[in-house]
Amino acid sequence: MSETYNRREVLQAGTLAAVAAGNALAQQQKPGEPKIIRIGIVGTGGRGTELLRNLVRLPGVKVPALCDINEKNLARAQDVVVRANMPKPEGYSRNETDWKRLCDRNDLDLVLCATPWEWHTPVCVAAMNAGKHAASEVPAAQTIEECWQLVDTSEKTGRHCAILENDCYYRETLLILNMIRQDVLGDVLFAEAGYLHDIRAVKFGVVPNGEPWRIEQSVNRNGNLYPTHPIGPLAWWMDINRGDRFSHLVSMSTKSRSLKEFAIKNLGPDDPRAKRDYKLGDVNTTLIRTEKGKTISLYHDTNTPRPKEHLLRVQGTKGVFNSQMDKVFIEGRSNHSDAENWKSVHEWEDTAEYRKQYDPKLWQEKGALAANGGHGGVDYLELYRLVKNLQEGKPLDIDVYDAAAWSVIVPLSEASVAGRSKPMDFPDFTRGRWKNRPPVDVDAIV
Ligand SMILES: NC(=O)c1ccc[n+]([C@@H]2O[C@H](COP(=O)([O-])OP(=O)(O)OC[C@H]3O[C@@H](n4cnc5c(N)ncnc54)[C@H](O)[C@@H]3O)[C@@H](O)[C@H]2O)c1
Repeated sequence: MSETYNRREVLQAGTLAAVAAGNALAQQQKPGEPKIIRIGIVGTGGRGTELLRNLVRLPGVKVPALCDINEKNLARAQDVVVRANMPKPEGYSRNETDWKRLCDRNDLDLVLCATPWEWHTPVCVAAMNAGKHAASEVPAAQTIEECWQLVDTSEKTGRHCAILENDCYYRETLLILNMIRQDVLGDVLFAEAGYLHDIRAVKFGVVPNGEPWRIEQSVNRNGNLYPTHPIGPLAWWMDINRGDRFSHLVSMSTKSRSLKEFAIKNLGPDDPRAKRDYKLGDVNTTLIRTEKGKTISLYHDTNTPRPKEHLLRVQGTKGVFNSQMDKVFIEGRSNHSDAENWKSVHEWEDTAEYRKQYDPKLWQEKGALAANGGHGGVDYLELYRLVKNLQEGKPLDIDVYDAAAWSVIVPLSEASVAGRSKPMDFPDFTRGRWKNRPPVDVDAIV
């Protein structure tokens, strides 16, 4: 067995990183107090600042350093820390790669990256190479090569690399996971989900907290550019990287109309952004098949006029859950018999009854604390779990293999769309170990 393989195996068990982290952290811990986790954040715009507001509420967290090329955003974030009665973090804002100096500090355990997409992998790789754990905003990588860089660097250094997928911590995500674990839905066969969010105004930067970097992504790219919010929960339900894995996908996009029309209407026909073309199809549909025969219908639509839609539908051999209807059907439980006519009637049930029975422990115990924490509490919960696992030296809920397998949908869907929906194989980032990795334990997520 090669040295690389040995290290990889150890990381797989979650112990090398855990032991290393535990050793480093134990030196700072005072008896009876939580272990200290020292965190640096790269990118303190809307998202980075929201993460920071949640982080400073967590016991044992310190924030010695922050980095942003926008000095106003950096100062605002430094102020968040000071107002939480902690020392003002050192700021890094010299240039677009000043995060390298932040990563090289010797007083950080974890670097979070919440910049525009192109910096996620470079920052995480630099952080791991400098001995820190890394966590990236979504998606963690833009190309297949970047996905492998994250995996290889994490295995080589023994450092964790998480993707900050907050949707995994919705009460509903964990409710369904609990129902799956207790065999209420049977074997999962199919799920449908999507990121269906009209962010045209954000993309063009015509609202106060606009993110004009996003529109550049719509000019030359066509596919599912933002798959991880819907795919994270589905991956947990389908045991992806933990008993099953994504095998291949096919992807198809509609024509692109809405961005140009929005620009003409809101910026004026003479604005340069109204004169150029946008390659990103308005609605992208990607079909994914898993090695064990499950399928997923995944949507991406950030261009069309619509209210934000939280679409989650999962079909098992025993029943189905539909988030938009907020209904469940379980064979034998939901249907009733019409004895006179010798037939069984299929009727939807409200999810409410199932909520009482299968409510996830995490929400029962931490729901009240999470309530103020952004996106209905999941921003707090994702960070609470990340920090807790690091403090306790345990494997992360969402690891580098998840970061890679969920993010690689971006380049694979782009390649499929460009090739008349040709099938694209998923790399096996676990190198075969998906077969033996244990599924996510919903009871351990507390
Ligand atoms: N998980 C979620 O719910 C969620 C929500 C919103 C955004 N996001 C993700 O968070 C990331 C940031 O999005 P946002 O909404 O905060 O965007 P934003 O434009 O508000 O913030 C990005 C920040 O990064 C800074 N930045 C840019 N290049 C940099 C560099 N080289 N070094 C340091 N700082 C740099 C910018 O100055 C800005 O302050 C994106 O990846 C986005 O996909 C996730």
